Amino acid sequence: MAAKIISGKEVSASIRQELAERVAELKEKHGLVPGLGVILVGDDPASHSYVKGKEKAAGQVGIYSEVLRVPASTTEAEVLKMVEDFNKNPKIHGILVQLPLPDHIDENKVIFAIDPKKDVDGFHPVNIGRLHIGEECFIPCTPNGIMELLDRTGVELKGKNATVVGRSNIVGKPVAMLLLSRHATVTICHSRTTDLAGECRRADVLVAAVGRPRMITADMIKPGAVVIDVGVNRIEGGKLVGDVDFDAALEVASAITPVPGGVGPMTITMLMKNTVLAAERTLA
Ligand code: GUN
Repeated sequence: MAAKIISGKEVSASIRQELAERVAELKEKHGLVPGLGVILVGDDPASHSYVKGKEKAAGQVGIYSEVLRVPASTTEAEVLKMVEDFNKNPKIHGILVQLPLPDHIDENKVIFAIDPKKDVDGFHPVNIGRLHIGEECFIPCTPNGIMELLDRTGVELKGKNATVVGRSNIVGKPVAMLLLSRHATVTICHSRTTDLAGECRRADVLVAAVGRPRMITADMIKPGAVVIDVGVNRIEGGKLVGDVDFDAALEVASAITPVPGGVGPMTITMLMKNTVLAAERTLA
C-alpha cells in the first residue's frame, strides 16, 4: 500500500488559522499586537524570497512586521545596532536575522546579541541550552515544524527508534533533542557514519536533513516507517527534490512528507507561532 502523504501545506494552513485566532484575542483582550523585526543584509535572492514569505505570513495572521533591508556593505557594528534597537523596541516581540550574513559579519556575534526572550529563531545559546534541559524556550522553526507534523499525523514516538541523518545546529541536533524529550531512542547519523543504510533501516521514524538529493533510497527504509524529508535540493532542470527518493519510498514507508509541500511550509508557520508566543509571554 502506498504511504500516506503528510501535507505540510494543509497542516500549516490550519495552524495559521489557529494563530490568527490567538492574535485576534491578544488584540481584543490586551490591546497587544505581536510584532516581528527582521534584518536582511545583502541581496541573496533566496534570502529575499524567504523574507518576503515571512512578511506575507505575518500579514496573514495579523502580526505587525518591520523588515530592515540593508546592503551587503553594512558593517557588523551597524547590524548589532539594529539588533539592539529591536531588543529595546516594545512593539517588536520577535527578532529574526536572516542567515547567511556576508563574510565580514560574525554570525554568532549577531545571534548572541539578540535578547533571548525575542529570539524566535531559537538560535541563541540560552534557548539552545534551555531546549536541552527541557525548560521553556524558543524551539528552532524547522524542528518545531517537524514535531507538529508528527503529532498532527498521530505518530507515536515513545519507545520508538528515531534516526536523524544530519547534525546541523539548525535541524539535526535540535530535532534529535526534541525526539529524545518525547522518549524516542535517537540515533544521529552524519557523513562519517560507518553503516548509514543499517542505521536508517532500524528507524521507525526517519528524519533526513543532509542536503543531498535522493540519497535515502527505498532499501534504507524500514517497511512501515514514517519518513520526514527536510532536504530542499534543486537538481538539473530546476526541479526541487528532497533527500529521500520519494517515489520509491512511497512503496515502503507508512507515511512520508513530500518536497515541496512537506516540512518547508511549516518553517515559516512556526516562526509565526514563536512570535505569537513571544508576545504572549510578555503578559505572564
Ligand atoms: N536561513 C535559512 N534558514 C533560516 C532560518 O531558519 N532562520 C534564519 N534566520 N535564517 C535562515
